[in-house]
Amino acid sequence: MNKKTQVLVLGSGPGGYAAAFRAADLGFSVTLVEKYATLGGVCLNVGCIPSKALIHVSILRDEVKEIANHGLVYGEPKVDVSKIREFKEGVVKKLTSGLAQLAKARKVEVITGLGKLSSANSIDIETKEGKVSVDFDFLILATGSSAVVPKAWQVDDERVMTSTGALKLQDFPKDFLVIGGGVIGLEMGFVYSSGGSSVTVIEAGPTIATGADRDIIRPLEKKLKAKFKSILTNTKVNSLKKAGQKIEVEFIDNEGKSQKEKFDRVLVSVGRRPNSEGIGLEQAGVKVDEKGFVIVDKQQRTNVPNIFAIGDLVGNPMLAHKASSEAVVACDVIHGKKTIWDHKGIPSVIYTNPEIAWVGLTEDQAKTQGIEYKLGKFPWAASGRAIAEMASEGFTKILFDPKTDRILGAAICGKNAGELIAELGLALEMGAVMEDIGGTIHAHPTLSETSLEAAEDLHGYCIHLYSPKKG
Ligand code: FAD
Ligand code: NAI
Repeated sequence: MNKKTQVLVLGSGPGGYAAAFRAADLGFSVTLVEKYATLGGVCLNVGCIPSKALIHVSILRDEVKEIANHGLVYGEPKVDVSKIREFKEGVVKKLTSGLAQLAKARKVEVITGLGKLSSANSIDIETKEGKVSVDFDFLILATGSSAVVPKAWQVDDERVMTSTGALKLQDFPKDFLVIGGGVIGLEMGFVYSSGGSSVTVIEAGPTIATGADRDIIRPLEKKLKAKFKSILTNTKVNSLKKAGQKIEVEFIDNEGKSQKEKFDRVLVSVGRRPNSEGIGLEQAGVKVDEKGFVIVDKQQRTNVPNIFAIGDLVGNPMLAHKASSEAVVACDVIHGKKTIWDHKGIPSVIYTNPEIAWVGLTEDQAKTQGIEYKLGKFPWAASGRAIAEMASEGFTKILFDPKTDRILGAAICGKNAGELIAELGLALEMGAVMEDIGGTIHAHPTLSETSLEAAEDLHGYCIHLYSPKKG
């Protein structure tokens, strides 16, 4: 069957569906091609959303435990894995079916099947009913990314999992190994540990959660060290093999010694790679870099003028909101708007307890790049709301340009940090100065006041902190 469309979007993740909906809202005829039966990509089906549903359950469980110290004693919770799984699946279903309805309302044609470009203007799609070919004027590539699993670790056993397997939540095994102490490793380790598993993290690098400033990670690291069985940094896994009911893992510890340990399940979370193979980029003449990321300019345009690419496929950070913001730019450019992707920061969040969030310039980046900055910092131990909510271990810090007081970046460690960082992201995008944040009345008592106080700390007149040296 042959079809024709103005804008074809390949892949329906937060990049792809946002692009399809935006293009339809701009008046184009749109075809959205997705190999799986549900829309939403990794994020909705096997990423952001199911992981956050499980994290919600985990945080509740931890809080229930903690409140026992303050007069509300529930006793040991009964963990019903199948009910938790049902809850998570219900959340995913609600959202993916919502997307299908939104696509229908916008008259976006959805084709379920595996797409492969045959030229710079046409694609072949293998559907259940047979091959469909679609000619298009413009193409937006949004095929996302997949987990990296080194060859030596590929054991044909479902107990060795990527995040997709871990999110299936078959059980809370006794001994759970996480290889890779990045964001997936920490979030999933957090979930399994709260569910009762004994969690070990093996990280090849010197620290967990690289990318965030060390000071912002410290309170989380302290909590995770108590929660997990162990976090082994500077440790390298050599091999994995089946050993009866267990998986035997051989690794080189931080002193260079070879060790062997057995685990019930192993999560491999050592990064993701772009899905740029097998989609016919060669046929269309689209170029990729040495890591397989599709090369795009600031308008998300590839080297082929009518072909755009967005999301995980084009590079780091691999985040849903980055993908969606690139989708908007690609569609606006196709629509004729003279625009580029020009943001001062992309918020990053690690959804653990405490939560970690940052946006814009980090202190580590400022130091390594020799960028001058001044810091305003407010410890949550001095926040009334944080203390009342048993969440006083974190802090809020804001980096300012020393000459103009303009905000350069911000980071928060603490409850709801991912929500709180939005205000500072807005401040960054608007080119706000210290006075804009400090001069905004924040409701009392809220965790958001910690941003106001961090801003006021810049010049040493923060009400709930005595720092005369800055004054
Ligand atoms: P994807 O979401 O990967 O979607 C690509 C789609 O293209 C897929 O549906 C795929 O099936 C389809 N596709 C690929 N090839 C073809 C083909 N040839 N034909 C048809 N269809 C095809 N990000 C956050 O911002 N916040 C989070 O909390 C967060 N949590 C995460 C948790 C986990 C466990 C994981 C794995 C990721 C998480 N991410 C999170 C990252 C986020 O999921 C990705 O950045 C985001 O999904 C990227 O969107 P995308 O549209 O580029 O691609
Ligand atoms: P990651 O890049 O965040 O972390 C991978 C970690 O594995 C790093 O610390 C790295 O040093 C380590 N590592 C690499 N090779 C190793 C080896 N051989 N042995 C041991 N450790 C090794 O990648 P991750 O966690 O797989 O996540 C992929 C992406 O998914 C993230 O970069 C992020 O963009 C996205 N994501 C975002 C989330 C969020 O926004 N909250 C949640 C989950 C995923």
